[in-house]
Amino acid sequence: MVNRVDIGVIGGSGFYSLLDDAEEVDISTPYGPPSDKVTLGKIGGRGVAFVPRHGRDHSFPPHRIPYRANLWALRSLGVRQVIAPSAVGSLKAEIGPGALVVPDQLVDRTSGRVQTFYDAGGAVHVSFADPYCPAGRSAAVGTARDANWDTVDGGTLVVIEGPRFSSRAESRWFSSAGWSIIGMTGHPEAVLARELALCYTTMALVTDHDAGVEAGEGVTHDEVLAFFAAKIERMRSLVADVVQALPEERECACGNALDGIKLPFELP
Ligand code: ADE
Repeated sequence: MVNRVDIGVIGGSGFYSLLDDAEEVDISTPYGPPSDKVTLGKIGGRGVAFVPRHGRDHSFPPHRIPYRANLWALRSLGVRQVIAPSAVGSLKAEIGPGALVVPDQLVDRTSGRVQTFYDAGGAVHVSFADPYCPAGRSAAVGTARDANWDTVDGGTLVVIEGPRFSSRAESRWFSSAGWSIIGMTGHPEAVLARELALCYTTMALVTDHDAGVEAGEGVTHDEVLAFFAAKIERMRSLVADVVQALPEERECACGNALDGIKLPFELP
């Protein structure tokens, strides 16, 4: 039985075996059910809740993931720090498949996704200048380097609507803007975490060079899945180590994201 859960992991279904003493719970939220049952368990004494981002059977494509329900469910269970492993493409020739990027910036190129909890009852404008938690980023970078990962500290993740990959022209455009990596799920996850005053850290595993990178061919779905599957065990063990490196008490500003703002409802 898990007593206190304060860390959340949102990742692929390959992360199920991350937790010891696991139990599954059905959670309902004002935004409908999360992607699947939430698994509660422990990693080295830390209470952790895991949500499979795309559902256990990968039933939700990136643009259909119930992002609000996932974040709300985690917060309602006590989670305050979220680690978000994901697969991304690289927009830079020098960042190759297998690298781990811990981005410090994000560009939203999605369209049509609901990206706020605060769409009625008054305006709530959270700061998003720095989308990621500095303490979580530092734990992820330090732990990955200790484990000899090819680690990139910082960089910009551009999140596209998908589910298609980018055209070569789009990809070249993103590269020329200086952005580092490209994915389909990092947004609105990041901003919804901020809107609930949660710490949020992306750990992005590069699975391919995106279409516009000089060294790259066009990317395929099979290529991404096969690469991620080949690395999942190593990635799982890294996420477990990062969880244990997270601070017990938060000292970053993420928990103050809503200070002084009149909220239209109470946070869970
Ligand atoms: N996820 C993994 N590789 C990707 C790519 N090249 N573009 C968008 N999302 C991805």
